[in-house]
Amino acid sequence: MDEAALKRALAEIKTVKDEQALTRIKINYLGKRGLVTKLIDSLGNLDISQRAKVGQLANTAKKQLETALNDAFTELRHSKLQKETTLKTLDLTVPIATGIGHLHPLTTIMQELINLFWQMGYEVVQGPEVEDQWHNFEALNIAPNHPARDMQDTFYLENDNFLPRTHTSSVQIRYMNRHKPPIRIIAPGKVYRNEDEDAKHVWMFQQVEGLVVDEHITLADLKGTLLAMAQGILGKQTKIRLRPSFFPYTEPSVEVDATCVTCGGQGCQTCSHSGWIELLGAGMVHSRVFENVGIDSRRYNGFAFGIGLERLAVIKYQIPDIRELWRPNLKFLEQF
Ligand code: FA5
Repeated sequence: MDEAALKRALAEIKTVKDEQALTRIKINYLGKRGLVTKLIDSLGNLDISQRAKVGQLANTAKKQLETALNDAFTELRHSKLQKETTLKTLDLTVPIATGIGHLHPLTTIMQELINLFWQMGYEVVQGPEVEDQWHNFEALNIAPNHPARDMQDTFYLENDNFLPRTHTSSVQIRYMNRHKPPIRIIAPGKVYRNEDEDAKHVWMFQQVEGLVVDEHITLADLKGTLLAMAQGILGKQTKIRLRPSFFPYTEPSVEVDATCVTCGGQGCQTCSHSGWIELLGAGMVHSRVFENVGIDSRRYNGFAFGIGLERLAVIKYQIPDIRELWRPNLKFLEQF
C-alpha cells in the first residue's frame, strides 16, 4: 500500500454505485486482513527510519478511506430513498375507507337507554364492581340462607366478605345511604354470576338499575316508566305486561314482559309462541330496604327495576344466541 494505491482506492469509491461493492472495498482496505490494517500491523517490524513515514501514510490512508466510504454509503442510501419516494407518487383520490368500524350493539343500546332516562330526568350513577356482602345482599333484605347467595350464582373472592357484584341493585343501597329523597337514578354496569353459559345466559353481563324514591310513588308510575323505556328501545308499537314475581327487596315484585319483536305479539318460535318476551325484574322498594338505609318508609315509597342489557339487545336485534355479543366475531358484529 502506497500513496498511488490510496489514490486509486479513493477514486474507485467515488465511482462505485452499489452498497455491496462499497462493502467489498471496505473489507479489502480496512477489514481485519485489509491492506491498511496489514500496513499498520507491520509497523513494528520496520526499520526505525521508515516507521514514521509509513505510519503517517497508514494513518492518513485509514482516515481518508473511512471518510470517503462513510460519505459514499450515505450518498447511496439517500439517492435510493429519493428514487423510491419519487417513483411512488401519491394518489390522493384513492379512498382510504377500508373497514371503518362502528359502535358495538351493546354500546349503542346502552347509550340509547341512558339517553332515554336522562330525558326523563334521571341521574346516571355508578358503583363498584367488587362489592361487600352487606351492599349486595344484607341491605337488600337477602337473608344469609337465601338461594341467591348459593355458590352456583355467586363468585366469591378470597376474602369471603367480598364478591364481584351479582346485580346492580347494590348501587341502590350505596346511593340511598348518601342521598335523601327525592331520588331518581339509573346505575348501568357489569355484573357477574357463576352460571353455565347457553343461548340465553352469560356469566358476565350488564344491567341498568333504576330507582325512584319520593312521596306517593305507585306501581302505575313504574309501569308508565317501563312502557316508555320499552317503546323507546323496541319501537312505538311495543306493549308490556307485568307478572307477579319475587325479589326480597321489592314488595310487590314483578317480572316485565314485552311483546315479541319478531312476530309483534302473534306468537312465533322466538317467543315460544306466547307473543311475549321477558325483559326485566322490578317492584316497589321493600320497607325493610328503606329502614336499612335510614329512609322513613311511612313517608316515602318508590320503585326499582333491573334491565338486562344483553337480553334487551338480543330482543331488539333478534340475535339467536346471547353469547355472540361477547365474542370477538367480526362477521357477526359487522351486521350492526
Ligand atoms: C335481578 O338481578 C334484580 N336485581 C332485578 C331487580 C332490580 C328486581 C330492582 C327488582 C328491583 P334477575 O336476576 O332476574 O333480577 O336479572 C335481571 C335481568 O338480568 C333479567 O331479566 C335478564 O334480563 C338479565 N339476566 C339475568 N341473568 C342473566 C344471564 N345469566 N345472562 C344474561 N342476562 C341475564
